[in-house]
Amino acid sequence: MSPLHVTRTLPEDATGAALRSDVLHGLTDTPKWLPPKWFYDARGSELFERITELPEYYPTRAEREILASRSGEIAAASGARTLVELGSGSSEKTRHLLDALTSLRAYVPVDVSESALTQAGQAIVEERPELAVHALIADFTAPLALPRTPGPRLVAFLGGTIGNLLPAERAKFLASVRGLLEPGDGLLLGTDLVKDERVLVRAYDDAAGVTAAFNKNVLAVVDRELGADFDPDAFDHVALWDAEREWIEMRLRSRTAQTVKVPALDLAVDFAAGEELRTEVSAKFRKEGVTAELAAVGLELTHWWTDAEDRFALSLSVAG
Ligand code: AVJ
Repeated sequence: MSPLHVTRTLPEDATGAALRSDVLHGLTDTPKWLPPKWFYDARGSELFERITELPEYYPTRAEREILASRSGEIAAASGARTLVELGSGSSEKTRHLLDALTSLRAYVPVDVSESALTQAGQAIVEERPELAVHALIADFTAPLALPRTPGPRLVAFLGGTIGNLLPAERAKFLASVRGLLEPGDGLLLGTDLVKDERVLVRAYDDAAGVTAAFNKNVLAVVDRELGADFDPDAFDHVALWDAEREWIEMRLRSRTAQTVKVPALDLAVDFAAGEELRTEVSAKFRKEGVTAELAAVGLELTHWWTDAEDRFALSLSVAG
């Protein structure tokens, strides 16, 4: 059995420095914001797992349905010998793809979570002893150096996480992914689709309040990591649909006028009663938009698969 290779490109202290910088910039801006990547400490990751099981939160089930029914087609169309998965997490949904990719020689899961990577990587090494597994501890929004593995490569970015990037960040990200590809290599991209506003808002404001707890968890992360004194109960969860920009926004609305201290940044932040802090953008897509954004970086969309209810899409595009 070939061993699991683990490479760290993320400096050990990168997380702390990036969190301080993001919190400083976001909380001193008008309007205030925090980036969604800070939701995912152990509790936030567990809350996200619970979100994926909620009746209102359809994207995970819809994407799994596509992978379960179309992995054979995806494998045949890509002919990949290397699968690179950005934000692989537990690699749970990837199993369908791994099973279908019969010519596969190497799997390169990329994630910021070392524990998720080594757990998932070890399990795959045991199941697929012929496969070289190179786990990369890296932030996929920063430039990536991939191990030399056989082509063609298929880069997968699933879950609709691309929707968390703002349009300019998205263009930059897609250009950097394109830079990893040789002619004939592919990108498999998961995108949640524009649909009825009520369905979208419910998916981000569930009846059981799990998404509200997930949203407020970012305040608990800032409290723990930077010594801040946010009271999560002093904020209300808000989910709204921006029809013009076609994205869902999550916000936290201050119930009262209050001042929050962030000792690690030597900062005091005033909130007016009702003032909102943006914590996430989750963009929703249409086929024309995805095609155009991919074409802008030299990727040609060749396949578009959706679930039976047209809620979510997986696209395959090929580098020219
Ligand atoms: C993990 C980024 C795909 O945007 O739907 C779930 C995160 N936020 N509920 C999404 C999330 C609120 C999720 N992604």
